[in-house]
Amino acid sequence: MELLLNNCISEKDIQAYQEDVKRINDMINNQTGAGSDYLGWADWPINYDKEELERIIKDAQYVREHFDVLVVCGIGGSYLGARAALEALNGLKSPDKLEIIFMGQTFSPNYVAQVMEYLKGKKFAINVISKSGTTTETSISFRLLKELLEKQVGKKEAQKAIYATTDKEKGALKTLCNQEGYSTYVLPSNIGGRFSVLTAVGLFPLAAAGIDVKAMLLGAKQAREEYNNTDLKNNLCYRYAITRDYMLRHGKPVEMFVTYEPQMSQISEWLKQLFGESEGKEKKGLFPASATFSTDLHSLGQYIQDGTPLLFETIINVVNPKQDIIIPHDDEDLDGLNYLEGKNLAFVNQKAFEGTLKAHTEEGGVPCNVITLDKLDAQELGHLFYFFMRACAMSAYLLDINPFNQPGVEIYKKNMFHLLGKKGY
Ligand code: PA5
Repeated sequence: MELLLNNCISEKDIQAYQEDVKRINDMINNQTGAGSDYLGWADWPINYDKEELERIIKDAQYVREHFDVLVVCGIGGSYLGARAALEALNGLKSPDKLEIIFMGQTFSPNYVAQVMEYLKGKKFAINVISKSGTTTETSISFRLLKELLEKQVGKKEAQKAIYATTDKEKGALKTLCNQEGYSTYVLPSNIGGRFSVLTAVGLFPLAAAGIDVKAMLLGAKQAREEYNNTDLKNNLCYRYAITRDYMLRHGKPVEMFVTYEPQMSQISEWLKQLFGESEGKEKKGLFPASATFSTDLHSLGQYIQDGTPLLFETIINVVNPKQDIIIPHDDEDLDGLNYLEGKNLAFVNQKAFEGTLKAHTEEGGVPCNVITLDKLDAQELGHLFYFFMRACAMSAYLLDINPFNQPGVEIYKKNMFHLLGKKGY
């Protein structure tokens, strides 16, 4: 991985953070900062439950062999990481024999009805994921899915097709699992939803999709070793975290995550949740936005180049895609594209990236962080997930914010429950 900070911050300004970074790195390692009960993710790549991982891989293999569809039912941190990794690694039109679809992340009657209709008559399993076990979107969807499954295969077979990921001890879902005897995996109590992608929350659906989850954990372990230090010349994770803080304090309140791969757009969604929910408190924090280029250069490109100068970009550039396509020769050349014949699309995409970077930084004056990855596989992605989680903890603490709570999210829920007539609201 490489990180270039184009027009973002000087070396001198990075070094000025040395004391703060040292203090916060100690806070993370010694678990002394605000919300430190939720720092379990920091050492997870070495502390994860090895036996549970083997069980996850075995059960996932069973699902691959016995079902056509796995419905993953969860929302927020119990949804975004798995979807992001699945799409980034397997693509948007995966030919894999097990189809993975998501439910539980919306109240949309259209979406829910369509998924239910699609599942009718299909051999499907369910992975319900909820730490609290009480999230309304997930609970409603799970009730519907469970009913459909029981109708199709009977209660006994349904019990064998339901896999739950939840808290070790508490919550309504845990009670239901105990009663029904579902296979259950643990979302550790010291890891919050948006930091949970490397636990069973992400690993079970990803293993079911045929992804090498051990490689993913290995990548995260390497990242943990690489970034747990305060050498600001070399620690890319903390250099990135510092840049974010510096941008916010220097008139750039919006961070736009950019990829040149539509199959990575859900990585941006995961990043928006990670940073938005961790930092957006006490009237502070960068606003996380996202764009997929070159598609969005034809929509947002104008604004980024010439509009209100409020944003900086964090671009994830993957140099070598898994697949490529060569542009063919055409005898008539009526479209005038023969100057590109024999070139592959990865080459064109890279030139689009280089040309845009120059336009945005030099003429547009937009600061751009560029994270360059040679390729994206399970190991690199595990590394990337850890990189961003550690950077998030560092930059939230630089703002003196507890990264691990989300008090603001409860307010809409209270209003909604009141309007829905839930007891006690
Ligand atoms: O990051 C978080 O904590 C949230 O986004 C939760 O993951 C989300 O609200 C879902 O919660 P639960 O897993 O309890 O259903």
